[in-house]
Amino acid sequence: MKRKAKILVVDDEAIIRDSLTDWLTDVGHQVSSSENGHQALDIIQKERPEIVITDLVMPGIDGLELLKRIKQMFPEIQVIIITAYGSVPTAIQAMREGAYDYIEKPFCPEKAELLIEKLVERQALLDENVSLRQKLEDKYSFENIIAKSAKMQQVIDIIKVVARSNATVLVTGESGTGKELVARALHAQSYRKDKPFVAVSCAALPESLLESELFGHEKGSFTGAYAQRKGKFEIADKGTLFLDEIGEMSPNIQVHLLRVLEEKEFARVGGNEPVKVDVRLITATNKDIRKAVAAGQFREDLYYRLNVVSIELPPLRERREDIPLLAEYFLRKFARQNQKKVSDFSLEAVDFLLKYEWPGNVRELENAIERAVILTRNAYVEANDLAQDNVLMTHHRVSSGKKISDVEKNHIVQVLIETGGNCSETARLLGISRMTLYNKIRAYGLTVNKVDRR
Ligand SMILES: Nc1ncnc2c1ncn2[C@@H]1O[C@H](COP(=O)(O)OP(=O)(O)OP(=O)(O)O)[C@@H](O)[C@H]1O
Ligand SMILES: [Mg+2]
Repeated sequence: MKRKAKILVVDDEAIIRDSLTDWLTDVGHQVSSSENGHQALDIIQKERPEIVITDLVMPGIDGLELLKRIKQMFPEIQVIIITAYGSVPTAIQAMREGAYDYIEKPFCPEKAELLIEKLVERQALLDENVSLRQKLEDKYSFENIIAKSAKMQQVIDIIKVVARSNATVLVTGESGTGKELVARALHAQSYRKDKPFVAVSCAALPESLLESELFGHEKGSFTGAYAQRKGKFEIADKGTLFLDEIGEMSPNIQVHLLRVLEEKEFARVGGNEPVKVDVRLITATNKDIRKAVAAGQFREDLYYRLNVVSIELPPLRERREDIPLLAEYFLRKFARQNQKKVSDFSLEAVDFLLKYEWPGNVRELENAIERAVILTRNAYVEANDLAQDNVLMTHHRVSSGKKISDVEKNHIVQVLIETGGNCSETARLLGISRMTLYNKIRAYGLTVNKVDRR
């Protein structure tokens, strides 16, 4: 049997209020209604609904203000916002303020009913007696993206709102911050989700090959073009095309791409016949593309076309709150994959995870945990497993400088060599903590090669 919910509908327009109230009552929910924000707050105090559906534009306390007050007083109440068609910016703001979702006017009550059904199911799932961790993970994950920090929650909110539009999205962020994951989430949350998601890296191919990879070619268009070939744009028709490392795209292809965006059609390489496509474009880069624009390496007009919405992924070191949940998520994933009974981290391991700088971001964290799970002989992962205990220093250059830092660097290298790259032993001999040693290894830019410990 479907679970029923206690709902409050707030709207100053009687037609919307009443039709929604009647509809939701008819399908079995317990529904109250209110025509303004003040009255709504009264009812919320008395009745404690689980869900509030509110219009945004109302005299007195408007929907956004109501949302803020609800989230302050009763954070557990889920709020759904009703917005005018096309007012995405307000919707984004509402999501940032903690709204669960929004419905665009005009809407049919079925749509609201479906949304509520999903919400109620989700709540039920969260309430079930799953382990606390699993609960946390469900609460803070969205389309395979673990996001607990406020910064990442904002990213998720933006994804939810823009996924449904056709706007181009430029995803930026350091290497390994999850740009491709975000692109996939945007696709999975869009109405295109059952159509192809096609990813192309603009850095992987030389210019001429990339052009035919993207736009296809006609038979005989160049030596070796024995048959007509469809490009990724055609393959992605009705779906999403993800162009990674867009900053590497050559000027020629930039022009070609701009034309496709403007005219929604193009010709295959070596052909004249226009090909029409309906493709949602998402691009990503770990470079500062505005600099490339300023330097004349990237077309400004193209940049604006690609950057209708931008999503910036913060580096992991700026959102350390995400680390524990990510670490456990990866631990479970790799334990399952490798059929190992590893279920936890030692306290020191957690300490290490939290303090380390993670220059390679989430990808580095994921790799470190995969390696640790594979290597450990215990039921839990220890700091040693994570910190690449057996490393061999290679290509180290002992400098002949006279600065104290040079002397320190040389000394560290020397001791590391003596211990065969054993960090614990090295730290002990040097009389410093492993963390300190690890930070120094990085600070001095020492190259370390991992050696399997088997
Ligand atoms: N928030 C997250 N939750 C779970 N997994 C994540 C998260 N962010 C990144 N990952 C994982 O980290 C790895 C790197 O992510 P992804 O490939 O999306 O990064 P990227 O920004 O595209 O990196 P690059 O710039 O190097 O291409 C992937 O395995 C991805 O699944
Ligand atoms: Mg990537």
